[in-house]
Amino acid sequence: MTNAPAVDICATDLDAIPAFAGRIIVFVPEDGKLDKAARRVNKLCNGALDRFVQSEAFGKMDDGDASDLGWPAGLDAVAVQVVRLGTDPEPETARNAGASIGAARGKHDLLVLGGTRKRLSDVLQGLLLRSYAFKECRTGEAAEPAGGSVTVMATGHKALGAEMVAVNAVVDGVYLTRDLVNLPANYLTTKSFALKLVELEELGITVEVLGEKDLRKLGMTMLLGVGQGSESPSKVVVMQWNGGGEEAPLALIGKGVVFDTGGISLKPGAGMEDMTMDMGGAGVVSGVMKTLALRKAKANVVGIVGLVENMPDGKAQRPGDIVTSMKGDTVEVINTDAEGRLVLGDVMWYAQDRFNPCGMIDLATLTGAIIVALGHDNAGVFSNDDAFADAFLAAAKTEGEGAWRMPIGPGYASLLKSPKADMRNVGTRAGGSITAAEFLHNFVKDNTPWIHLDIAGVAQPAKPPAWAPKGASGWGVMALDRMIRDGYEGA
Ligand code: BES
Ligand code: MN
Ligand code: ZN
Repeated sequence: MTNAPAVDICATDLDAIPAFAGRIIVFVPEDGKLDKAARRVNKLCNGALDRFVQSEAFGKMDDGDASDLGWPAGLDAVAVQVVRLGTDPEPETARNAGASIGAARGKHDLLVLGGTRKRLSDVLQGLLLRSYAFKECRTGEAAEPAGGSVTVMATGHKALGAEMVAVNAVVDGVYLTRDLVNLPANYLTTKSFALKLVELEELGITVEVLGEKDLRKLGMTMLLGVGQGSESPSKVVVMQWNGGGEEAPLALIGKGVVFDTGGISLKPGAGMEDMTMDMGGAGVVSGVMKTLALRKAKANVVGIVGLVENMPDGKAQRPGDIVTSMKGDTVEVINTDAEGRLVLGDVMWYAQDRFNPCGMIDLATLTGAIIVALGHDNAGVFSNDDAFADAFLAAAKTEGEGAWRMPIGPGYASLLKSPKADMRNVGTRAGGSITAAEFLHNFVKDNTPWIHLDIAGVAQPAKPPAWAPKGASGWGVMALDRMIRDGYEGA
């Protein structure tokens, strides 16, 4: 698994600057006023920093942007990276600044001259998030970790060190999500996925793995139908973090289709390789659980993921098959490629049946239609509870993760009527992400506040956000952790 680089946080020692052989990072606000450390750097390199700050190039930069002064005379450093940032920036701007540092880092050691600046933990969060590189399937030099050491000098180094516990917890959760999403389906099978989740027991999470026998006993035949064409056995993994009191838990449910060929309703070949990320919802749930455990969150949260592989085979489910859900409703499977909802419906019902949660959030790379609707900048947010949805949207906004509320309603739900069964698994082409949400809505009990997050567009966006490299983004870990921090951890 990919580990985040360790950050060494210490008191400021300006005398260490001249002999530092890596990249030196200085922050300069819009007005160009240099702080103590920047003044020392400027003096050592004979006024080069001052000249840069007065240049047109600096004038064109925004807060969070960065520019390199390469091979500065008077310093051993390979570069002084000038990062434009105010003294008390917004969290998102601070993270963007950190991302600029992470993006330019290469293999060099970093010396970050933080001084008295506020929001340094956000800068470091951006730096660490942007430093991720997926190396697991490479060999030789390319498999080595991306960068060198990271040293941060700050006046408030003790307070910053304490703040980094929560930051590191979030970063490690995001890294886990990205690793899981980036891994191809021959590395991440239903079995190896479940085994990786069992490892979370070390952190104090209770993990149970339900196999096909257990699932059949529970009546999850709708979920089992999806996996019946695969050699990999279907599994449901239940992760419980009980950091709170006696209150009912919040339930997080994840779609974990380790590969989605479409099944007998086979997908076209072009681009099918992207379906290695069809376990993205389960990846986010796993990442959040890890974060909660690492920072010992004072909340009760249960994460449940449905792990299946959707393959065409002699034993595979056929279009037209009618399956019975754990809830007891029958579903006509018109299209075996609309499999995520079949998995989630049963897992959601199980979650409510067993845990009676105070709220339930499901995450899934559920529809191509949500990409048509929202592109890659926002996940679709569907909900039966405005206050619950608003709490999530606020958390996502704070964390800089795009999220946009979508409608649901009986008009959409009526498109799922079947002549033969209680419902069918697809509607019409129009409003495809909404009918998918309405399918899930059938498996939400009346008194359960529920949010469905369709993350098909954001889990592995073509153009990544500032805080993520190419590939899996880990979208949602920060927002969900924030929502739990702000709303579920008492006073
Ligand atoms: N996993 C796909 C959705 C998807 C598409 C995720 C693109 C990420 C990127 C899902 O299982 C699926 O195939 N959905 C179908 C539903 C249709 C058959 C009603 C789709 O969106 O085409
Ligand atoms: Mn599908
Ligand atoms: Zn799918």
